[in-house]
Amino acid sequence: MMTRYAHIVGWGCYLPDRTVTNDELSQIVDTSDEWIYQRTGIRTRHIAAAHETTATLAFEAAARALAVADMHPSQVDLIIVATSTPAYMFPSTACLVQDYLGATKAAAFDLSAACSGFVYALQMAAQSIATGSMRNAIIIGSETMSRVLDWSDRSTCVLFGDGAGAVVLKGSSIPGGVMATTLRSDGSGADLLSLPALYHNPVPVMGAEFSTNGHHKNIIDMDGRQVYRFATNVIASSIQDVLRQAELTADDIALIIPHQANTRIIETAAKKLKMPMEKFYLNVEHNGNTSAASIPLALCDAVREGRLKPDDNVVFVGFGGGLTWGASVVKWGVRPQEAAPSGNEWKRVRYVLARGRSRLRRLQRKVEAIVTGRSDNGKEPER
Ligand code: UT7
Repeated sequence: MMTRYAHIVGWGCYLPDRTVTNDELSQIVDTSDEWIYQRTGIRTRHIAAAHETTATLAFEAAARALAVADMHPSQVDLIIVATSTPAYMFPSTACLVQDYLGATKAAAFDLSAACSGFVYALQMAAQSIATGSMRNAIIIGSETMSRVLDWSDRSTCVLFGDGAGAVVLKGSSIPGGVMATTLRSDGSGADLLSLPALYHNPVPVMGAEFSTNGHHKNIIDMDGRQVYRFATNVIASSIQDVLRQAELTADDIALIIPHQANTRIIETAAKKLKMPMEKFYLNVEHNGNTSAASIPLALCDAVREGRLKPDDNVVFVGFGGGLTWGASVVKWGVRPQEAAPSGNEWKRVRYVLARGRSRLRRLQRKVEAIVTGRSDNGKEPER
């Protein structure tokens, strides 16, 4: 079979309008702008409005990425949403996005790898394209972290923010795109960073601890110092691993886009790698830690600032709960003039139509159920 390369041909981001400054947070917990900025590099973060969900954020980012790629939703074969904050275990966030986009031929699923989720999803999609089973895919990192924070815990609530970023991958026989990836995990560190699922249905036979998974709230719990140490080590090791795999050296890399958790973590990793900080792209100051969304959000800003040009090698590196970590080398193939989406507003009409079609499908199912006279479980009703 001919080798297929998965090229990034579109990218898009969405950040909720509402921003919250460090000073605002200092009015609800015992903290200060000085502490937060010095320890993390964060000044502000975006917080989703009540009507926004992880799926609506993801949809906005995906629609923008499709506009840049100049691709119709019906051409999409695969949608992966990397998230730790889905509204439902099922339907997946990806299925909701599939419906909002009207991507009628796409497979859709969510991927759980915490802050490494984007790099994991990129590799799953790139491999699907490389084998020829998929042609075009949308990878989305989307989070509403504000919904899983304990807003009275200063050690976590000041760190995170909401947002979504997406890329469109397209298969091509031209070498480039996702060139090498390394993915790793270490479940022995599961307790260092966790977000429990809550089961409301008690299981008396198994014991009380199974009803709530041992926790009573689905809020983030983190051992900051341990995660910090882990992060600085794995950023350096996974970048070295992926460069080896791609047969490249640090000098061949134009830009590294790390998961945006903390400026100091990146500075320490840069020192370990003996690489200048100018090679690392940072926007944590404006967004905080948006978990799986942080790398594609940073990519959007980097492209907008002209930090990537055709044939540049860019490295994405993620790390987080699980523990999970991973890095990808991508050969950037988009020329600046191709990066400006055209007719964006007009294209949004198709999403209004997608919502209409979705409503019609639901109505059609109801009508079919009435007309066929079958009960909900599909059995013939008793006569
Ligand atoms: O995306 C997933 C990956 N997550 C990460 O990468 C996060 C990794 N960890 C970190 O970024 C850092 O560990 C933090 C930013 C979370 C914390 O920074 P730190 O320098 O490790 O601080 P610390 O936890 O050692 O706490 C130092 C002090 C403590 O007070 P004492 O015990 O020295 O009196 C904390 O209680 O700072 C205190 N503190 C705060 N003070 C003001 C903790 N949070 C705050 C706060 N404001 N928000």
